Amino acid sequence: MTATFEKPDMSKLVEELRALKAKAYMGGGEERVQAQHAKGKLTARERLNLLFDEGTFNEVMTFATTKATEFGLDKSKVYGDGVVTGWGQVEGRTVFAFAQDFTSIGGTLGETHASKIAKVYELALKVGAPVVGINDSGGARIQEGAVALEGYGTVFKANVMASGVVPQITIMAGPAAGGAVYSPALTDFIIMIKGDAYYMFVTGPEITKVVLGEDVSFQDLGGAVIHATKSGVVHFIAENEQDSINITKRLLSYLPSNNMEEPPFMDTGDPADREMKDVESVVPTDTVKPFDMREVIYRTVDNGEFMEVQKHWAQNMVVGFGRVAGNVVGIVANNSAHLGAAIDIDASDKAARFIRFCDAFNIPLISLVDTPGYMPGTDQEYKGIIRHGAKMLYAFAEATVPKVTVVVRRSYGGAHIAMSIKSLGADLIYAWPSAEIAVTGPEGAVRILYRREIQNSKSPDDLIKERIAEYKKLFANPYWAAEKGLIDDVIEPKDTRKVIASALKMLKNKREFRYPKKHGNIPL
Ligand code: HXC
Repeated sequence: MTATFEKPDMSKLVEELRALKAKAYMGGGEERVQAQHAKGKLTARERLNLLFDEGTFNEVMTFATTKATEFGLDKSKVYGDGVVTGWGQVEGRTVFAFAQDFTSIGGTLGETHASKIAKVYELALKVGAPVVGINDSGGARIQEGAVALEGYGTVFKANVMASGVVPQITIMAGPAAGGAVYSPALTDFIIMIKGDAYYMFVTGPEITKVVLGEDVSFQDLGGAVIHATKSGVVHFIAENEQDSINITKRLLSYLPSNNMEEPPFMDTGDPADREMKDVESVVPTDTVKPFDMREVIYRTVDNGEFMEVQKHWAQNMVVGFGRVAGNVVGIVANNSAHLGAAIDIDASDKAARFIRFCDAFNIPLISLVDTPGYMPGTDQEYKGIIRHGAKMLYAFAEATVPKVTVVVRRSYGGAHIAMSIKSLGADLIYAWPSAEIAVTGPEGAVRILYRREIQNSKSPDDLIKERIAEYKKLFANPYWAAEKGLIDDVIEPKDTRKVIASALKMLKNKREFRYPKKHGNIPL
């Protein structure tokens, strides 16, 4: 006799479904959830609940499990396969997300795990919505061997295909070791949480010790502070888990959902023609005196709100998002409070990447200039300032978004060009009366131009002083360049915001075309 299978009624099926979902929502189980909390970490679902507007999260592939059977994986299958994926609303806008679940097989990445992330990317690209990845994982799932590595390939490919199409934000909310660090690195922004439970490195302390004999702690090798200050890998440090979500939401508020959209306009209530209070007092005309360019930025943007990117790294270059008359802008500015605002390798890398992000996502660029030039010295030359410095030139020249430059004080040499000038494609270039535009600073220029005269002089110091005074009279002002038509207008410092707002309004529908090509070859 064959047994007949009688299907239970719907209420029973629903009951069963609920029980299965409850099991899935428990991830790796109560004990592992407690262990996660004991480390000060939230679970994947708790994190997603903080990210999305209440009740808007839609999970996909909830019941997906690993296909692998090796090393007993078939017996320890967990619904979800170590990652929670889906979409929801963040402040009313559609956002996709994946959150690795460390409680479930250590959040490790195997074939199914990777295919869930790929699914989210596929949908995000189809509809044009940002992807937020919350990383908390033991890396490639050892039991899945080469299949797990293949899975990373799938994720990296998805990251690259989405690059420049939809914004990608990573929250580093756990460990990342080995090649697993490269998915975050391929996204646009990394927000990393401070604390012992959060670190990322290609090679951990144990192997570092064996191979190099170097003793270093997890945090000193790959903690948030190190990556935000020394390596430049991390764009924002979060004080805690909640802070990482707050930063993500703030960042999203400046970004369009995709490369076909304009960034979100916000009525900030700050008048476009507001004069910039006390701005003259912030910038010393004596070029030897450093000042913090952020003080100019705060006065330029709506309500002083500026979201600085990579704030603690390469501080001679300040980059970040703000709004002018409600419209999002990307600001690139020199800061003489650090390294005298010379552009070194890190500063150039930082600016170039930011410029390219803004260009990819239709965010107009404002340059605020006060730089003595590219950084000299063997250290910089040996590390390739030629190669790295070229990135800024490339990025500005390539960008087709509106580009407005304001020369605040010094603008010398290659750095003058790198900060975006007319011939490189700036739409408008303004100067304050304090601007100095020249091939090189007065001291260096005089020593080259009058080398022989100085050598033959009986009082070389007096001669140098005299020649410097002559040089300054000619170039230590914006008018020589303005007479040559290289400056569109010399403006009063207090009017900078008003002038930028007008320029951006005029440039709103700017169209600029490029020859079709597969892609350019930015110096890397
Ligand atoms: C399988 C793993 C795992 C892994 C952790 N687990 N990492 N399972 N493959 N890679 C499991 C553990 O067995 C454990 O299972 C659970 O996840 C939690 O791990 P714990 O070790 O208990 O947690 P903790 O003490 O917090 O330590 C976390 C850790 C450690 C530092 C990440 O687990 C670790 O060192 N894991 C190995 C990391 C690694 O070598 N990954 C490969 C990197 S190379 P139970 O059942 O006990 O809960 C890589 C290549 C990517 O990722 C290639 C891309 C190109």
